[in-house]
Amino acid sequence: MGAPICPGLERRALVDAVELPEGVDVRPLREEDIDAVVVIETEAFSTPWKRDTFANLIGRDGVELLVMTHTEHGVVGYAVLWCILDQGELANLALQPGKRGSGLGSHLLRQVLKVARMRGVAKLFLEVRTSNERARDLYSNFGFTEVGCRAGYYDAPREDALVLLATLDD
Ligand SMILES: CC(C)(COP(=O)(O)OP(=O)(O)OC[C@H]1O[C@@H](n2cnc3c(N)ncnc32)[C@H](O)[C@@H]1OP(=O)(O)O)[C@@H](O)C(=O)NCCC(=O)NCCS
Repeated sequence: MGAPICPGLERRALVDAVELPEGVDVRPLREEDIDAVVVIETEAFSTPWKRDTFANLIGRDGVELLVMTHTEHGVVGYAVLWCILDQGELANLALQPGKRGSGLGSHLLRQVLKVARMRGVAKLFLEVRTSNERARDLYSNFGFTEVGCRAGYYDAPREDALVLLATLDD
């Protein structure tokens, strides 16, 4: 077989073809999801965002709030994406503790990347704790690479943030 006409697009088609597991969906966050999202946020992060922060972001220009739902378990994860022209920032991504480590984070991130592309994002940035190996592995699987370090960026405990960047296909 010869070389693909457009390797980037072909790779994208393969990535986008991955289907969500049965019973799992990813959709925009609604007001009634916020309580469940705050529980996940509080379990995941030592300086969590409050309910009002999520509520105030609903419908804001350039903000994409996504939830991952399961038919039996309700909201199991969420992601927050900022889009400013061709740049994006993945501000938050987390799953319920019991749902981690079985591929759902990868599914959620795949959906985030799709939304980012649809919004015209070409460069997607994020920060991650240096000690967060699971998240770093996840991001690395999706092509994020280290482009910087913010010393002492995180509190509780104080820790550096790695700045990661993924360049998205058109
Ligand atoms: C980070 C997070 C969203 C990843 O979701 P997940 O469902 O656990 O991840 P996946 O099961 O899709 O696995 C993604 C990769 O993480 C790594 N990973 C998964 N489980 C792991 C474990 N128990 N220990 C170490 N690495 C692990 C693997 O490299 C995996 O890739 P692979 O399947 O090719 O081996 C989730 O663990 C989470 O909510 N963590 C707490 C919040 C957080 O840290 N968010 C990121 C902030 S920047």
